[in-house]
Amino acid sequence: MAELTLPEAGDPPMVEAKALTRRFGAVLAVDHLSLAIRPGEVFALIGPNGAGKSTLMKMFTTLLPPTSGQAIVAGADVARDPQAVRRRIGYVPQVLSADGELTGYENMLLSSRLYLIPRAERAQKVADGLALMGLTEAKDRRVQTYSGGMARRLEIAQSTLHRPAVLFMDEPTVGLDPGGRRTVWDYVRVLKDKIGATVVFSTHDMAEADAVCDRLALIFGGKVAVLGTPAELRARVGEDATLDDVFTRFTAAAAPPKAAAA
Ligand SMILES: Nc1ncnc2c1ncn2[C@@H]1O[C@H](COP(=O)(O)OP(=O)(O)O)[C@@H](O)[C@H]1O
Ligand SMILES: [Mg+2]
Repeated sequence: MAELTLPEAGDPPMVEAKALTRRFGAVLAVDHLSLAIRPGEVFALIGPNGAGKSTLMKMFTTLLPPTSGQAIVAGADVARDPQAVRRRIGYVPQVLSADGELTGYENMLLSSRLYLIPRAERAQKVADGLALMGLTEAKDRRVQTYSGGMARRLEIAQSTLHRPAVLFMDEPTVGLDPGGRRTVWDYVRVLKDKIGATVVFSTHDMAEADAVCDRLALIFGGKVAVLGTPAELRARVGEDATLDDVFTRFTAAAAPPKAAAA
């Protein structure tokens, strides 16, 4: 395995958005958004439905071109050099993507071809990835027999076979029970420690963001409403405040009244 170079304080950001904007017709999904994510951070994008989290993540992963502004991911510009970005990132989409009819091992083998892992390295990389996500014993079972947490971990193993510098995950724990959530985050920590990846994920579970991330940005109306460590943000709202209180405070101003939602 290649030696890890640990990030240093003066290093450039691993992910940077500068006035990044995406329009869908009249809808301004991401609105001149700027933020910087440091190498090695576990960074959460939180915010209500429709805030622009998925659109932002799709621009970072080159799946959607920006309307204007700039995004630099792992040293490459998403608009000018999308191929370089794709080689340096992993992406776990919101919808489950592993094939339930195939075993965990077979899914990994497919991904190893997708990510152009040289044939001679495939068996070792697949075995390493399965071991890293705690799936060695389950590797020959069909994925449809896996728990939700195991299936997610398999997807993380698939999307990190090429040892990306950044792993993006869109709502990775939606639909998982508490045990499944916990194992996913335990293994994300392992991934971060072993391969030094920067991890960017979205969630609307505040308790989860609080427990898991180093820093977070609350996205609201396509902009960053507030950004910091969970402790910094809680302190801004008050003593004994939770991230739920932070969420309420920074999304209350423009939110429609609750009654209107019915
Ligand atoms: N492909 C699309 N076409 C039109 N509107 C879209 C599309 N994708 C997202 N939007 C709109 O952009 C806004 C942000 O959506 P999204 O990024 O999915 O938010 P989130 O992931 O935070 O729930 C919403 O108003 C949504 O309806
Ligand atoms: Mg979304």
